[in-house]
Amino acid sequence: MIFRQLFDTVSSTYTYLIGNQRGGGAILIDPVLEHADQYLKLLDELELRLLKAVDTHLHADHITALGVLRDKTRCVTVMGEQSSADRVSVRVSDGDMIEADGICLTALYTPGHTDDSYCYLMQDRVFTGDTLLIRGTGRTDFQNGDAGQAYNSLFGKLLTLPAATFVYPGHDYNGNTVSTIGEEKAHNPRLQVKERAEYVELMNSLHLVEPKKMSVAVPANQRIGFSQQRLEQEGRAISPQQLLQMSAAERQSLLLVDLRDPQERARHGIIADCISLPYHELSASLARDGLLAALQRDSGRPIVFYCAYGERSAMAVRIAEEAGFFGTRHLSGGIAAWRVAGGATTNMDPAGAR
Ligand SMILES: [Fe+2]
Repeated sequence: MIFRQLFDTVSSTYTYLIGNQRGGGAILIDPVLEHADQYLKLLDELELRLLKAVDTHLHADHITALGVLRDKTRCVTVMGEQSSADRVSVRVSDGDMIEADGICLTALYTPGHTDDSYCYLMQDRVFTGDTLLIRGTGRTDFQNGDAGQAYNSLFGKLLTLPAATFVYPGHDYNGNTVSTIGEEKAHNPRLQVKERAEYVELMNSLHLVEPKKMSVAVPANQRIGFSQQRLEQEGRAISPQQLLQMSAAERQSLLLVDLRDPQERARHGIIADCISLPYHELSASLARDGLLAALQRDSGRPIVFYCAYGERSAMAVRIAEEAGFFGTRHLSGGIAAWRVAGGATTNMDPAGAR
């Protein structure tokens, strides 16, 4: 495994790069906009391909690089389901796994600093965002922060991890890089409280000034979704209503391709008569001897991609175009919009999927 801890000196943010040396896949956690080119250069130097970019929460002190990294690498963006970001590729809930080329992160929902805060556990280490800092904890006085929830997240969840678990925080202002759960339990002054009420009292009496970039960073971080306008103008998007209004024969003439991971399909259901093709397998599948290329050759059915919110499917249209598949379209808003429009889902795995 390749592991790098990168630092933004302006906002004191830590960004983490985790890579699989063998397969070449990589994940970035909490990337900062101004360093996007630095990450891309490093990925290139280490011969890694960015598969997923994850934010622990919607940041108030810096602008995320999630959007720009997705546009440059076509990686999948990930945030919690509570995030107020307009669109990301995947929204996780407590206990979900984020997997990329054998790298596995478990999402731990830890509200308190914000209502969309997650920590990510990976084997011997946990990426704690602003929930737990080294000898500190994240403030709880904006973005639906809540000191009581923060106490529960810390004492009910993070501090129950094995004492030897490494703590990699989202920020540090004092020159620290890494700690452990045991070390923080023993020496973090904010954690030396006897009860919840004492922690709430402590956090509510801090009276901190707002982060300098807050008025710029929060709105910018809420507008990171892949722009879908051009696809719509080009007639490459099908709305859920359009798909619903099609006759059974019209629907069956399409090759509906679900780009989500198995975990998402199991949790949120599928649209009937689709085939399953996880997004990360798309390029290989479009190659001459790939599954999708073969299916299209045999059936000639026009492809319609769909995913969770329409982000991976929009990128898939472009990827397919580059591979020589020009007639593909995607379902705007993904299965989430399909459901809102009254579209049915089923929990059965698609017939004909591998
Ligand atoms: Fe934060």
